[in-house]
Amino acid sequence: MPTAAALRETNHERKVVTMPHHTRDQVINWLNDALSAEEALIQNLGQQVDDAKEYPQIKKMIEEHIQESKQQADMVRNRIKALGGSPSSVKTAVGKVQGYFQGMGMKPADDRLIKHLIADHAAEHMEMASYTALEEAAKFIGDNETAAMCAQIRQQEVATAKKIEQAIPMVVRDYMAKKERQKAA
Ligand SMILES: [Fe+2]
Repeated sequence: MPTAAALRETNHERKVVTMPHHTRDQVINWLNDALSAEEALIQNLGQQVDDAKEYPQIKKMIEEHIQESKQQADMVRNRIKALGGSPSSVKTAVGKVQGYFQGMGMKPADDRLIKHLIADHAAEHMEMASYTALEEAAKFIGDNETAAMCAQIRQQEVATAKKIEQAIPMVVRDYMAKKERQKAA
């Protein structure tokens, strides 16, 4: 006679096994891609804070974006574990997101903050599309929890993208006015 604990274990395994391995693994892979994207973004945003020091509102927005991305990364990491996967950063996905930032980090250009905001806006849209895809894949394998999480994170990305978009004109106006003053001086 199997013990109650062993039975529970078997039932649990049966439940997980009912999802075909290859489709579940695909969801885990994409969750890991999303995790890599969040981690790359956290790193990049961290490097932007200093460039925004003359704009307290923008600086605050970037800092809040870092916090939000960290929470999202935790949520994604937990879902990977719940599905029996192991959270890992996939270099290729990180590379894709970092492509947005290439050549930008080291340049001492005075328009760096504007370029950061443009790249951040693009990154949010890439994340929105990724979570849309992931939500659908999760629904396909009947994983409603992952699907709900993706929908929730996607909403946050939409809101953050909007904030970034609204911040751009103010920074550009200020930058152009400074340029004009420099020329006049
Ligand atoms: Fe995010």
